[in-house]
Amino acid sequence: MKDNISVILGMQWGDEGKGKIVDLLAENSDYVVRFHGGNNAGHTIVANGKKYPLHLIPSGILHPNTKCVIANGVVVDLEVLVSEIEMFSKDGMEFKDRFFISDRCHLILPYHKALDIAYENARGENKLGTTARGIGPTLADKVSYNGIRIYELKNWELFEEKFKFQAKIKNAILKTFGVEPIDIEKELTRLKELREIVLPYITDTFQLLQRAIAEDKKILMEGAQAVMLDVDFSPYPFSTGSNTIPGAINTGAGVPIQKINQVLGVVKAYTSRVGSGPFPTELTDEVGKHLQQKGAEFGTTTGRARRVGWLDLEATKFACTVSGVTEIAITKIDILSGLENIKVCIGYELPPSVIARSEATKQSNKIPYSSCGYQELTKLTPIYKEFPGWTEDITNVKSFNDLPQNCQDYIKFIEEFLGVKISLISTGPKREEYIKT
Ligand code: IMP
Repeated sequence: MKDNISVILGMQWGDEGKGKIVDLLAENSDYVVRFHGGNNAGHTIVANGKKYPLHLIPSGILHPNTKCVIANGVVVDLEVLVSEIEMFSKDGMEFKDRFFISDRCHLILPYHKALDIAYENARGENKLGTTARGIGPTLADKVSYNGIRIYELKNWELFEEKFKFQAKIKNAILKTFGVEPIDIEKELTRLKELREIVLPYITDTFQLLQRAIAEDKKILMEGAQAVMLDVDFSPYPFSTGSNTIPGAINTGAGVPIQKINQVLGVVKAYTSRVGSGPFPTELTDEVGKHLQQKGAEFGTTTGRARRVGWLDLEATKFACTVSGVTEIAITKIDILSGLENIKVCIGYELPPSVIARSEATKQSNKIPYSSCGYQELTKLTPIYKEFPGWTEDITNVKSFNDLPQNCQDYIKFIEEFLGVKISLISTGPKREEYIKT
């Protein structure tokens, strides 16, 4: 059997520019599979001169010979799914026999979205900055046996019964928050309409993927969010609701991890994050403005301005280690052009007064990212290494050796620090703007 399964994951807090890399790889893939998260993800793909914002449907949809799978680990908002199906169908993209949704996916229902917003408002100043798409409440229902799988849509009477039971409970909670309850009958009418459009695509994607593996098909597992938002390995509760590390491929699609032969980690040349939570290398000065504006750091899903900062190699190294990354793609290196000096964080130091959980800190003030909860992350001081910048426009450079020397040195340092080969360097937003090393 050939090793044909690749996984692509962001190594920071999301928005590393995975979309473009997935798009490049999708062209040569038989299957592109989403296995976790939901429509909290977002990226824009440019095809035939048109921009497509994508939240749920795998990026492979733009390549007619690629099959697209939403596997069981994904939580699905039917409203978003149908609007994406309609957007692509209008432009002539075919869904029949090439788009599949697992019957095990849990549904994001109207009360989940209302609850997400109600919890956030109740948190006040301590809000987490979720995308308000209902992700957390849906996943909470899933593990507390209150969720409803897409499977239930096949039998409308049963679905209706389950929906009403859950909606009544959720409405009672919404009332305690002082929030308008959802209109159960109105929502059911809409869900029935959406169901008709979605039903033809619902299937057992486990069987489908096992067949694809047996037939040596090339499969690309498309990670969403990023490793530093993993529900277990992030500074909880500043997380997303799902596991975002490669293990999620097994739980979220039934694909055994031993079958994976490539884990491609996407690392942006600096760092960004949306939402609240600690961000040790955050920049709020002129350099921060440069990164935000030149890097167009505004969310595809929420439109929010992203927070930006220097590349945090301490955290990124952890993300690469926990994910078993075999190759790295560096993105948005062109955004650094024009900066006089560039810093990278190569470690963390905690003031001795802060009680840390790590044994390591008893010998020194250094603390590894993995030992930091959100409290340590807000109190530590990053240790920086500084590099001289470059002024040249590098978007059309096609070979590593043609990059400015200072840019080469910066990239080589990242590669050495992370101990993983950098196989692709993205030098601009367009499809063809990259260097293969
Ligand atoms: P949720 O996933 O909507 O519950 O949001 C939880 C946290 O994850 C918030 O800080 C979001 O901004 C962040 N988040 C969720 N999805 C993404 C993503 O695709 N890119 C970047 N941040 C995300």
